[in-house]
Formats: sequence, C-alpha cells, structure tokens
Amino acid sequence: MWLPCGCTSKYVASSFARRTLASYLHVSGRSRCNVAAFMPEAAGLEGVSGRAALRELSVSNSESFWAAVARHRLCWSTPFHTVQDCDLSRGKIKWFEGGKLNVSVNCLDRHVHTCPERVALIWERDERGSEMKYTYGELLEMTCRLGNLLRRHGVKRGDCVTIYMPTCPLAVASMLACARIGAAHNVVFAGFSADALAERIRDAQSSTVITVNQGVRGGKVTELKKTVDTAVQSCPTVKQVFVAMRTDNPVTMTARDIAMEEYVFSYHDGDVFGCVADIGWITGHSYVVYGPLANGATTVLFESTPIYPDPGRYWDMVERLKINQFYGAPTAIRLLLKYGDQWVNKYDRSTLKTLGSVGEPINTEAWEWYHRVVGDGRCPVVDTWWQTETGGICIAPRPSDPDAEIVPGMAMRPFFGINPVLMDTEGEVLTSNNTSGALCMAQPWPGMARTIHNDHQRFIDTYFQPYPGYFFTGDGAYRSEEGYYQITGRLDDVINVSGHRIGTAEIEDVVNQCPAVAESAVVGYTHSIKGQGVYAFVVLKKGIDVQEADLSRQLNGMVSEKIAKYASPDFIQFAKRLPKTRSGKIMRRVLRKVVESDLEGLGDLSTLDDPAAVQEIIQGHEKLL
Ligand code: WTA
Repeated sequence: MWLPCGCTSKYVASSFARRTLASYLHVSGRSRCNVAAFMPEAAGLEGVSGRAALRELSVSNSESFWAAVARHRLCWSTPFHTVQDCDLSRGKIKWFEGGKLNVSVNCLDRHVHTCPERVALIWERDERGSEMKYTYGELLEMTCRLGNLLRRHGVKRGDCVTIYMPTCPLAVASMLACARIGAAHNVVFAGFSADALAERIRDAQSSTVITVNQGVRGGKVTELKKTVDTAVQSCPTVKQVFVAMRTDNPVTMTARDIAMEEYVFSYHDGDVFGCVADIGWITGHSYVVYGPLANGATTVLFESTPIYPDPGRYWDMVERLKINQFYGAPTAIRLLLKYGDQWVNKYDRSTLKTLGSVGEPINTEAWEWYHRVVGDGRCPVVDTWWQTETGGICIAPRPSDPDAEIVPGMAMRPFFGINPVLMDTEGEVLTSNNTSGALCMAQPWPGMARTIHNDHQRFIDTYFQPYPGYFFTGDGAYRSEEGYYQITGRLDDVINVSGHRIGTAEIEDVVNQCPAVAESAVVGYTHSIKGQGVYAFVVLKKGIDVQEADLSRQLNGMVSEKIAKYASPDFIQFAKRLPKTRSGKIMRRVLRKVVESDLEGLGDLSTLDDPAAVQEIIQGHEKLL
C-alpha cells in the first residue's frame, strides 16, 4: 500500500543542472507554487555553487537542504514546523512535522493553474498505433470526478481503496483521486490471480475496489472483473466494486458493482517521459505517476509488452510518441537484445535523450547494447539503484554533471541527500575505497518508507536491526577506487565457494558476455566439499545452434579466466526461459529450491509471471542430474 507523500523524480535530477541550489529552487514560473508563504528561505544555502558542493551540503546539512527543497518544490496547505525527527536506531522516520499537503494538488492543480493544455499522460495502448493523450486539465477533471464519486459512496479519509486495473489513465486518476480525498491506495498488479488479489484486499481491509471489465495485454483479453468477483468472495470487508470499461464487452454486474463512465479527451503536444513500468510496482508509482506529474511532465502509460506485436514495440513507440527519456528494466533489454539490432534500427529514435535502467544489476553486454544500439552511442545510460523502501532513485549517474563519468553497469554516485555506507560482516563501516560490503544508509531522507502497514515491528526488525543506527537495504555493493558504487545484488545471492565469497551477479555478467547467451541466472547449492557449488541456468539467443557441451566448456573457460577457477559453474543447465516475477526479476528463490531438489519448498508462486517456466526448469534439472 502506498500512502501519498513527497516523491523525487528524474525531472528533479535534470533540474540540478543549474548552478546553485538557489537557482535550482527557483523553479520556472510555470510550475512554481502559488503560495507566497513559501518563498525563499534558502538562506545559508544560496551561496553554494557547483554540484559537488551541493551534494556535500545535502548530506552534511541535510536538514536545511530538504527543508529548502520541500518549501520550494511543493505546495503546502499548512507549513511544517519541524523538518525532521528521525532516529534510525529505532526505525523512527518523521519528516516535515506539522506540514500538510495534498499530493494530487501538487501533481495536478498547480500545473493546471499555469498550463492546463500541457499533455500529462500519453497512453500507449496495447493496440499499437492507437495512443491517446490527456492534458493536465483533463486529468484534473477526471480525478475530481472520481474523487467525488468515491466520496459519494462513503470512501473517506484514512480508508484504503484497492485498485486492480491495467496501466491506463483511469487507474492514474483513481490513484490521484484517493490521494485527493485522503484515502490510501493499494494498487495490485492486474496480472495477479484471484487468491493473490484477495490476500492483498484483506491485508488492506478495503471496502472499495476499482477495476475494469476486461484487460488487454499482448493481444490477449484478461477477465479482470471475473477475477475480482472470485477474490471478493473471501473478502468480507468489500462493500462496493467500481467497474470501468476497457473493452466493449459487457460483464455480469452484481448488487455490489457500480458502473463508471468513460471519458473523451483531446490531443496536445508535450514533453514525453517514457517509463514502461506497470503502475502496480513502485517504479510505476514514482516514475509513471507521481514523479512526472508532480513535475509537470507528460508521462507515458504503457499497457502492452515489449514484444507485442513484435520486438520493435518499444522503439516504434519511441518514434511515434517522440519519447525523450526511456526508462525500463534490464530483463526487457536482455530479451530484446536476443532478437537482434534490426528491430531497433527500423525506427527513428532521435528524440531520445537519456536511457534509464532499474530493478536489477544490468550486465555489461546489455548495458553496451542499450547504449550503442538503442541510444546510437549518444544517449547516456543511467543505471539507477533504488528500492520500494527508498521511494525514489538513490544511487545513479548524473549525466548533467560537468564531470559526469559513467562506467557501464555501475550505479555510480549517491543522489542528493543520500549518504550510503558499506558495512563489513562485523557491522563496522568500511571507510576505504576499492571494497565491498552490505549497503546501508547512514541518514534518513524524506522519500523513505516510514513503516510496514500494520506491522511496525517488522519494519524495525528488517531494516534497522541488522546494523543498528543504519537503514539496511539488503543489497551488497562494491565501491571503486574512485568512490563509485556498483550494486552486486541481494546479499542472499552471495555464495561461498571453498571460502571465497562471490556475488552471483558477477558470474552472470561473465556468462552473459558470451555472444550466444541471452541471459543467465546463477545460484549456489550445497556441496559436500566446497560448502557451496555454482549452478548456472543459461538461456540462448534466438536462432543459436550450438552443441551444449561445447558451449558449457566455453562458458567455464570464460568464468575461470575472468573471475577465478573456483567460480566456474559445476552445472550448466540450458533453459528456454527463466522463472520471473511480473516485474521482471528472476525468481532465484525458486531456482535455489529446484537445484536443492526441494520442490515442496517452492513457496508462494503467485507473483510468478508464467508458472510453466518452473515446470520446464524442474524437468531440465532432472535431465541434467
Ligand atoms: C534491485 C525497484 C542493481 C536491488 C526500484 C533492490 C537493482 C531491489 C537496481 C529493489 C540497479 C534495483 N542495480 N540492482 N540499478 N535497481 N535493484 O523494491 O536488489 O522492486 O534492492 O524496487 O531491486 O526492488 P524493488
């Protein structure tokens, strides 16, 4: 569940290109807050010039920094009296106490005030070539109407509304409408099963669900309303289900269901931010909805898949919608790389300025392909590290910096106000460079999580207990000689072979450099002599015809040469595809269970994209042994 609050965005990042904090804070008249009480209080910060000094100050004097940012980038209905009251040793995160703001006002009203005709959303519908555009004025109207509708039906401040919809304008308006009336929203990915949906509705104790009659993705129709019908049977709290029409096919309505109208909108030009994440994930929340809208940008809602109707879909969309920033996941890049360059080269990508990557470490080959082929070697690739818990990007290159070096596959530099540290196994801070450790944050920042809904103790135990006084990310990272960060993966993905600790991502990176390989996943398994052994799953590129035994030998040789002999896989299993979550992350937990032959322990598979992939992996594993 997401409770509306402040958020950061790439658009904030680009604004930092200006010279001083004062000038950065002096946002253009078009999107400036219209509230006199919040004019410059950046006293003491105004003299800071240069980005290095600004970042230094954002950490050493974080309170003044965030106070200035909050005052000048956001509209507050009541000003805050205390900037922060945080104590990482107790998991206490409080920002801007006494302050009140409405995130939907910040995302909509202030832009409508100055530029109502600017395009807010571009909906890249599943049916290629049928995109629709919505202005800030239209989105505000839709949001207000929805907010009123929810209110009329008894939804009030503090309630939690479950949204089970595809990535579409009405879903965005539903999120903003909840925020507008003070309700929390619980956006559930529209690919989830009835059971998975029911569990999330019960957890949120929602009395209201918003859905559509049917979804369309990759040319296939999904029966979303029917899934809701099944789910709510085991959710006694649900009193009403709002149903909008995504297709023309009628669905059975019950006494609990309320039909919603559809709206017609006009078409206008604008700047285009193309984050292709589903709104059911944090990337969709922060970089499709709240971040771009709060910054007055035009945002793309991508309803389809990267390979529907063919593997040129993203780049065809870039050409048609004139996308300037494209933000996607390494898993999709690896998938598309497999199909070859011709699908990219067919389309005009000259509008692209920046390419972003998020969600997993991006291996060198995918990074280079993204940069060289998609970005024609001219667009910087920003590998952005962050998590649901951090709310927004924390470590990423800043291409607008004058000294902006970018190293392939590295998340590079901490963002403004972010103070990362690496910890050793004893819980001591590693101060030197050229070192690896557990990635923690030494200071709070406003966008970070404040609790786990209904379970604050779990919040403390998970994030603040492992390294008292620090926020623990669960990830491992390497800090280079120059002080740049590279994320090495989840710490539970570190394996220990004959006493050598190695991140599985490092082995994958080498395997993926083989021209025949599309992607790979490496997991550890219990080995009677070495402690743990290395087991690699490998997916080949389309049309590759090689002897598996020869290729295995080649891959083993590459790993031995580039890392060390001990890291060379004991087993290499070739697979058609890997089990992935719907947000594209490889489900290593499942792979680990398969190689341990613990099929009973596969656990909850409800977030799995395609359950058939697991069966294939199990069969392949049995054959290999
Ligand atoms: C991983 C997604 C390497 C990491 C925004 C993190 C990354 C988890 C990167 C959060 C990156 C995200 N390089 N790993 N650039 N970005 N991760 O909550 O393990 O879905 O902890 O948030 O994804 O996943 P989540």
